[in-house]
Amino acid sequence: MKQTIVTFRDAKKNNRKITMLTAYDYSTAKLIDEAGVDSILVGDSLGNVMLGYSDTLAVTMEDMLHHGKAVTRGVNNALVVIDMPFMSYQTSVYDAVVNAGRLIKETGANAVKLEGCLCAQIKAIVEASIPVVAHLGLTPQSVNAIGGYKVQGKEADAAKRLLEEAKAVEAAGAFALVLECVPSKLAGLITKTLKIPTIGIGAGDQCDGQVLVCHDMLGMFSDYTPKFVKKYAVLGENMKEAFTHYCQEVESGKFPSQEHAYDIPDEIINGLYGNNK
Ligand code: KIV
Repeated sequence: MKQTIVTFRDAKKNNRKITMLTAYDYSTAKLIDEAGVDSILVGDSLGNVMLGYSDTLAVTMEDMLHHGKAVTRGVNNALVVIDMPFMSYQTSVYDAVVNAGRLIKETGANAVKLEGCLCAQIKAIVEASIPVVAHLGLTPQSVNAIGGYKVQGKEADAAKRLLEEAKAVEAAGAFALVLECVPSKLAGLITKTLKIPTIGIGAGDQCDGQVLVCHDMLGMFSDYTPKFVKKYAVLGENMKEAFTHYCQEVESGKFPSQEHAYDIPDEIINGLYGNNK
C-alpha cells in the first residue's frame, strides 16, 4: 500500500514507530521498498556516499534530480522524500518553491526535506501543495557555520532554541521533523511537544521514527562512522571478498566455466574454419 503523509500522522497517533532509510539508486530503493520500510529519503548525503565529497555542500539540483528519478523508479509503496540541496532554497522563498516544484515534478518524489528553521520557505512550499519534512539539530549544510559535525542543543540556550524552532517549523506546515544529533531527552521532549512525528538520527529512542544512511547501516561506507550508526550488515567486507574472489578466478581460468558460456554447434564452427582457408 502506498504510504502517504497520512501514514506518518496515523503512526504518531497510534504510537507506531516510523521507519526511514536513504537510497540513491533504483536497485537499492527497490530492495528497501520490498522490505516494507515506510519512507525512503533521497538524501543529499549522496554527496558523501555516492560522489565522494567530504560534505554535502557541492551537491547540485541536477545530482538530486538524477538520483531521485532512479529511486522513484524502484519504489511502489514507500513515501519518497527528497532533499533540497544547499543553496536551492536558502536564497529566497521564490527559489525554494521553484526548486521544490522541480524536485517533485521531475522525480516523482512525494515530499521535500530542507534544513534549518526557514519558516517562510516551508510555508510557501506547503502552500504550493508540496509536503515538507523539516530538519533541525545537526544540519550538515551548515557545517561551516556550526564549526563541525557536533551534537546540537546540549547547552540550555541551544536546547531552548531547538525546542522553539521545532514548534516554529510545525506551525509553518512541516508534516514531519528530522532531528539529527540531539540529546535523547531533548528529542523526547520535542517529540512529546509536537503533533507532527519526529524522525531521529542520533537523537535517541524517544523519537516517533528513525532514519539511517543506507550505506552506513549496511557497512558499505568506511570513511567515518558516527556513534549513532548501527551496522546491520558488513556488505563492504562481503563486496571486497567477492571482488578478490572474482579476480582470482579470472586469473586462474576458473571463471567463466561452461555454465556461464553460450554454445554453438561444432559444424558451424568447423564450417567457418573451412571459409578461412
Ligand atoms: O542527507 C541525508 O541522508 C539526511 C539524513 C542524515 C537525515 O539528511
